[in-house]
Amino acid sequence: YRNLRVALLGGGSVGAQVARLLLEHSEELANRVGASLELVGILVRDVDAERTVDLPRELFTTDAETLILGADVVIELMGGIEPAREYILMAINSGADVVTANKALLATHGPELFAAADQVGAQLKYEAAVAGAIPIVRPLGESLGGDQVNRILGIVNGTTNFILDRMDTEGDTLEEALALATDLGYAEADPTADIGGYDAAQKAAILASLAFHTTVPLASVYREGITAITPAQIESARKAGYVVKLLAICERLVDAATGQEGVSARVYPAMVHRSHPLASVHGANNAVFVEAESAGSLMFYGAGAGGVETASAVLGDLVSLARRHIAGGPGVPASQHADLPILDIGRIVTRY
Ligand code: NDP
Ligand code: HSE
Repeated sequence: YRNLRVALLGGGSVGAQVARLLLEHSEELANRVGASLELVGILVRDVDAERTVDLPRELFTTDAETLILGADVVIELMGGIEPAREYILMAINSGADVVTANKALLATHGPELFAAADQVGAQLKYEAAVAGAIPIVRPLGESLGGDQVNRILGIVNGTTNFILDRMDTEGDTLEEALALATDLGYAEADPTADIGGYDAAQKAAILASLAFHTTVPLASVYREGITAITPAQIESARKAGYVVKLLAICERLVDAATGQEGVSARVYPAMVHRSHPLASVHGANNAVFVEAESAGSLMFYGAGAGGVETASAVLGDLVSLARRHIAGGPGVPASQHADLPILDIGRIVTRY
């Protein structure tokens, strides 16, 4: 095998799970990729901090430059704009490929980062930046790349969906439900990003840019959060047969006033009828409803937040990058590594 050196920037909710999975599944991942994925270090602020995931102490470092310059693939899971932006640019310019889950950074500095990557032929992947574990970036950017997407309706923030759901089903206050969401690792380091709708707006900017093959600046996304939603409003919505959901809506449309064709992205709490599939999205789950000209309606559903769930999307990007990195192409086909036996169990009945 060849060896790919993987540097992790951030060892928090998501980063610690990525590190654990990389270490626990190293052999299987190596078989799948055709190269070993060696975790060379984890950048943190405090190497002595108590950690909930048990990882080898010697992996933790505060020396960003040495870690980044010694890596083939850099995974950025620190969050925030700086120094994440500076470190990603350092990685790209040193010839590394990059994986990030940082929607705040992509929604504000995406064009700069993608241009930098293009200039040196590096890859920058970000499946985990929108809707946690749900594959939506690749489906929109690649699978639906030949179709025309007309509208996206998304529940793209797990924390606010969790809070609204708890207010609706458990009678929690917003503050009680937010405290729980924070404990469960769903909320951003500054949860104002969640409850203020900023996180959902960043994701809407990314989704709209992908779906409409353009750059939708964050500043052009209309945004309202859930801070003004009261238990009484949730109660009256329930009595009327509706549920309140924070929706991200991205649309191709014609401006009624000017007749001009264009796109719009907006985030606000909406009344969703209980018969609509989005009304059944509970807890920290997300769902993205896509309406495309040829494909029709598609719905992508699953865990929208959470350390281990998001780690799945990060590792998917890493495997995809690693395969390209190794072979200068698609890498070793997965079929050549199907070393699990086929079980002869005949017909079994499973209840779904
Ligand atoms: P956390 O706050 O849990 O972890 C951040 C990590 O980065 C910590 O280990 C922290 O170090 C380290 N870090 C932060 N700033 C610096 C710095 N300046 N120098 C060195 N290390 C630093 O964040 P999450 O894991 O929750 O989120 C990471 C990224 O993933 C964010 O971009 C977030 O938006 C995104 N994301 C998160 C999801 C989730 O459910 N949590 C889901 C999808 C995306 P230390 O431990 O020492 O404090
Ligand atoms: N804080 C974010 C959320 C994490 O709750 O959806 C996933 O992007």
